[in-house]
Amino acid sequence: MRELSASLLEWYDQHARIMPWRTAPADRKAGVLPDPYAVWLSEVMLQQTTVAAVREYHRKFLQLWPTVTALAQAEDADIMAAWAGLGYYARARNLLKCARQVVADHHGQFPDTYEALLTLPGIGPYTAAAIAAIAFDRPETVVDGNVERVMARLYDIHTPLPAAKPALTAQASALTPDKRPGDYAQAVMDLGATICTPRNPACGICPWRDPCAARRAGTAAELPKKTPK
Ligand code: ADE
Repeated sequence: MRELSASLLEWYDQHARIMPWRTAPADRKAGVLPDPYAVWLSEVMLQQTTVAAVREYHRKFLQLWPTVTALAQAEDADIMAAWAGLGYYARARNLLKCARQVVADHHGQFPDTYEALLTLPGIGPYTAAAIAAIAFDRPETVVDGNVERVMARLYDIHTPLPAAKPALTAQASALTPDKRPGDYAQAVMDLGATICTPRNPACGICPWRDPCAARRAGTAAELPKKTPK
């Protein structure tokens, strides 16, 4: 377990994707955590939108409203206009509600636990775990489609999704380290997005090529299985 997370973190230190809401590599090594407001904004935007599409919007929002307090004071119409093009507009409405609640109930500071984050508008279990892990380095387990695919392959799990979800989540959770859980969460996502891809996974350069059960069995490309709709 420990070796698995250690080898992945080593890979992440070399290959983490550069994203506007992440700490710069040098700062990350020094243990500097990213701004919770920037992390929250990125996670809400990424709920139904790709990283590529989110980059520019994230930059724009931080430029227009550099803090959650600034965002809380914005006009609804200005938020909606800046959000135009990202889709799923309920997210933008909840964004403003959430910002106002953080200012009203939490003195303008995002709460730093999964449970407290979950009480905020627009923050469900996935987003609460992601913010707690990434912004506050809490050992929460963040499971998205990338993470499910990586776990299904690492442990050669052939149970189809969605039935396999609890098992995949349990594996992801067991691997979450006490140290740098936020980097670990993002490292699994990056691995799934860049190496352990749905098609043609780049197993030859994967930091988990040796421990990967699906690679050994030759089944990586067919996992995860899905129950036909
Ligand atoms: N998708 C959702 N959150 C992400 C993050 N922090 N890094 C990479 N991909 C993500």
